[in-house]
Amino acid sequence: MGLDKLAIHGGKKAVPDGLAVIQWPPITRDDEEAVLAVLRRGILSGTDAPETSAWEKEWADYCGVKYCLATNSGTAALHMAVAAAGVEPGDEVITTAFSWTSTGTCILHHGGIPVFVDIDPATYNIDVTKIEAAFSPKTKAILPVHLYGQMADMEPIMAIAERHGLKVIEDACQAHGAVYKNQKAGSVGHIGCFSTQNSKHVACGEGGIFVTNDRALYDAAARVQQFGENRQENGKRLYNAYGMGWMYRSQELVSAFCRSQFRRLPEYIGILRQNCNYLTENLSGIKGLQTPYVLPGCEPVWWDYKVRVIPEKLGLNINPREFALRVAEALKAEGVSLSRWEFVIPNMTLFQQKRGFGKGFPWSFPGARKISYDVSQYPEAMAAIQTLIGVGCIKPPNGLELMKCYVAAFRKVFDSIDKIF
Ligand SMILES: Cc1ncc(COP(=O)(O)O)c(C=O)c1O
Repeated sequence: MGLDKLAIHGGKKAVPDGLAVIQWPPITRDDEEAVLAVLRRGILSGTDAPETSAWEKEWADYCGVKYCLATNSGTAALHMAVAAAGVEPGDEVITTAFSWTSTGTCILHHGGIPVFVDIDPATYNIDVTKIEAAFSPKTKAILPVHLYGQMADMEPIMAIAERHGLKVIEDACQAHGAVYKNQKAGSVGHIGCFSTQNSKHVACGEGGIFVTNDRALYDAAARVQQFGENRQENGKRLYNAYGMGWMYRSQELVSAFCRSQFRRLPEYIGILRQNCNYLTENLSGIKGLQTPYVLPGCEPVWWDYKVRVIPEKLGLNINPREFALRVAEALKAEGVSLSRWEFVIPNMTLFQQKRGFGKGFPWSFPGARKISYDVSQYPEAMAAIQTLIGVGCIKPPNGLELMKCYVAAFRKVFDSIDKIF
């Protein structure tokens, strides 16, 4: 115990150099052929273009929903969802305080006002027990995020939405293929949104996906996606704007790349589960370290693997952030690839200063409620951001060989925890 010299003190690294593969996504010969086929075909875009239409059908089938629109980002899909949910200036949308920027800004994009709710400290997803208190007569929708690839507790969320006549928009940008009580991410709420940006489980560079079972929501979202135009069954365009629209369409090269990668998604999810379950089994006994909690009925897809450091458990009287930074430094020296990702959205300058569109909009909209973004309302999110450490390179082709070295590195550092200061 504690005999190995730590790498921060010149000892041998627990993870050999070159073992971790950083490149994501893997790009195969099939991917190259799929993209080349588009170039050879010469059709690069269009509402009824073959690759995008096929991709939308395949993704809808995978999620178990009727309608799908491929977009040019997850943020675009979220904005379309907020608009389709009927959010108008001054309306409110309840969402989690702990996510990526555009979980909050997609609400502003349509003149809506985000009302942030603190997180459950076990899952890091929205605390469902606090949603009802955030509700007001102005609330139009709830926007839960499936953070790190684990779905939010959807049953109580859907029950609250039904009680108040709200739409539920799943931000499943990190949760391709995740399952909650036998239902796939994107199929439980009224709308689901995914990102296919470079770090995601289907990663085409930049892209997104909107899904729903509701024809009216699909039609409304399609108008926002394409210049305010109604989407015709026959793919023909009438070039009339029926409402506010942007240009959020996908295009053939990325759709072909997504389709090709999608064939490997089940295999990728299998490897991610094997890697992350191995980490949890082997790290959970380490005192002072909290491994991810999986909600019963949830089958996460592990977009990220987070451990939390708890210095009090080790009898250490040290600032938790300081401790997390020291641990991270020691692990990094051992060769563990680390990721840092978290954001407390209301703590961002945009929200603290309510900059928005200028002239105080949307918060200044006549009749809008006064919403505070005082961070004392989000103690669990603020605590999580201080103490979470992300373990990187968990995605394939990385496998158990690397995970075993990671476990050795964690054990080595925690066995000599008094020597990292
Ligand atoms: C939770 C979450 N929501 C929304 C987005 C936005 O997706 P995109 O970058 O494709 O616009 C991301 C991307 O990282 C995300 O992680």
